[in-house]
Amino acid sequence: MVNKVSRPHRGVVSFVRRSTRMNESQQKAWERLAPRFVVDVPAAELDTSVADDAHVDWDAAFGRTAPRIVEIGSGNGESLVAMAAARPETDFIAFEVFEPAVASTLGRMGREGVDNIRVVLADGARGLEVLFGSGVLDEVWTFFADPWHKTRHHKRRLVNPGFADVVADRLAPDGLWRLATDWEDYALWQREVLDAHPSLVNVHGDWAPRFAERPVTKYEARGLAAGREVHDLTYRKRT
Ligand SMILES: C[S@@+](CC[C@H](N)C(=O)[O-])C[C@H]1O[C@@H](n2cnc3c(N)ncnc32)[C@H](O)[C@@H]1O
Repeated sequence: MVNKVSRPHRGVVSFVRRSTRMNESQQKAWERLAPRFVVDVPAAELDTSVADDAHVDWDAAFGRTAPRIVEIGSGNGESLVAMAAARPETDFIAFEVFEPAVASTLGRMGREGVDNIRVVLADGARGLEVLFGSGVLDEVWTFFADPWHKTRHHKRRLVNPGFADVVADRLAPDGLWRLATDWEDYALWQREVLDAHPSLVNVHGDWAPRFAERPVTKYEARGLAAGREVHDLTYRKRT
């Protein structure tokens, strides 16, 4: 049941701070590519938070105006970089709090010659709220977000009614929110929250077919190997 979590809890985040040590190749990728592809955003009280008055000129950050997709929790970029390479006409903004994972994403971008991604090393739930206006995003992606199984941790789940309000507001009319998870209880929770949202329509009226553009990442492979089913969902912003 989701009705206990009605609004994002200020200060409660969907991730755990981990050691930020990078290996040598991550360090090299960071030094070479972070100045170009990591967007510095002023932080609030925690270094992963986003200051209330932070602002990014996305047209300037990309050097063009293009359709825009935000991914929250992009991990090491295993799926994002491939999907961005396949859509060169679209710009991608990735939020990820784990610095070595961002460095790996940069390394992949460098190896594959992908330049239509900008990464923000910060909490994407807050970043989405602060750094984008209403109706400006073509898609929002949350793939394999941390499941937070224990009931007392449910308030940490990225997908909750308050976050859904923010996503729905930032999506353009007919914009899409794509989700996937390999944890059935979280899949059911996501569906319960989002099917009930007045501004979102479940495109398939059911689970979505697997998003064909998304390569199988280590998270998805691990879930499948453990016998878990992967559930995709797609919601459209009501016009
Ligand atoms: C299980 S991984 C999935 C990575 C990727 N989406 C994939 O499918 O391979 C979840 C990632 O989300 C990140 N994360 C969780 N909550 C976040 C938040 N609020 N903002 C930014 N990153 C977050 C974690 O650090 C972790 O790297």
